[in-house]
Amino acid sequence: MNLGHNHPAVVAAAHRQIDRFLHSGCIFRYDTIVEAASRLAQITPPAIEKFGFANSGAEAVEAAVKLTKKVVGRQGLVVFRGAFHGRTMGSVTYTTSNAKYRDGYHPVLGSVFVAPFPHPFRWGMSEEQAVEYCLWELNLMFKHEVSPQNIAAFLIEPVQGEGGYYPAPAAFLGELRQLADQYGIKVIYDEVQSGFGRTAEWFASDHYSAKPDVIALGKGIANGFPLSAYGASTEMVDAWPRGSHGTTFGGNPVACAAAIAVMDTMGDLLPHARELSARAFERWAKMATEHPTIGDVRGLGLMIGVELVSDQETRTPDPEAFNHLQRFCLAHDLIIIDCGPDGNVIRFIPSLVTTIEELDWSLDLIDAGLSDYESL
Ligand SMILES: Cc1ncc(COP(=O)(O)O)c(C=O)c1O
Repeated sequence: MNLGHNHPAVVAAAHRQIDRFLHSGCIFRYDTIVEAASRLAQITPPAIEKFGFANSGAEAVEAAVKLTKKVVGRQGLVVFRGAFHGRTMGSVTYTTSNAKYRDGYHPVLGSVFVAPFPHPFRWGMSEEQAVEYCLWELNLMFKHEVSPQNIAAFLIEPVQGEGGYYPAPAAFLGELRQLADQYGIKVIYDEVQSGFGRTAEWFASDHYSAKPDVIALGKGIANGFPLSAYGASTEMVDAWPRGSHGTTFGGNPVACAAAIAVMDTMGDLLPHARELSARAFERWAKMATEHPTIGDVRGLGLMIGVELVSDQETRTPDPEAFNHLQRFCLAHDLIIIDCGPDGNVIRFIPSLVTTIEELDWSLDLIDAGLSDYESL
């Protein structure tokens, strides 16, 4: 809910639509769904022109993959270690942020190949070294496990979310784009978490010159209403045989009205989000010099990950530091959540309507909570 709880523009739009009609079904065309799609086309990366709607991020990812496989005519998929794409059987196959999501569900789907995603801090490498290693591994995969001619798509989060808030290095996305073009592979960006203002731009894609062929969107798209979307070029969508995919509730008129209100409202807030981001990064950088528990601060815009460690040298994850901080913050009316497989990364994601004063208040509190933990 990047616009915060009960944003008045979203609430009013939903009320208005409920009084008109609240369900239509995916086989009918109605004004809010058409407007939501054409508005999305104006803000998503240039190649993304036509959209379908669904109810959750997982469904959007699955639809993006189905579209791509059918149109490209190949079945293989390359995903990246540490990714989170959802919990349905298809999307959980693509998810490797934590083994717990797949435990008990093997065998998962076939022809899904997991390549490493650059995690420079965790590996004790520079960004360049991590990128070089990942590309080396990917090329080995193409040599030993699957020829690139079998791959329909690279499915990637431009900023890994659940996996620990790792922005993809620009060089990495650039190389993937190049490999994709070389081998006729499509690039799918999962922007379910990184989209809709989270990175202080409409989409994380806006920070990179390497653009996707297909995109999956969710979460903040309708500020709390169950809506998600997937989009691609007109050429790709029109090549997808009619009736290949659909859903009863996807693109619900009320949820689409909420999404239009989000798109009406969010653009004006992006400059403020950039201001919040600059302020947050400046304060986190200062705190990192003062707190031995802070191992790494990373992210894009207002999608900030702060990794807590028990030892700076070994970068040993310290989930207890996070648990202590979370309890401390909750006792003082601030909710924080974690990410990363070790539960030691603060997922710092203020809404875009947060004021500078509220941001400072929250960081003062976190500062005090870390000092409290370090004094134990
Ligand atoms: C990047 C990403 N993709 C997909 C999903 C799945 O979305 P949903 O929980 O709406 O199915 C999530 C949810 O956390 C996500 O962060």
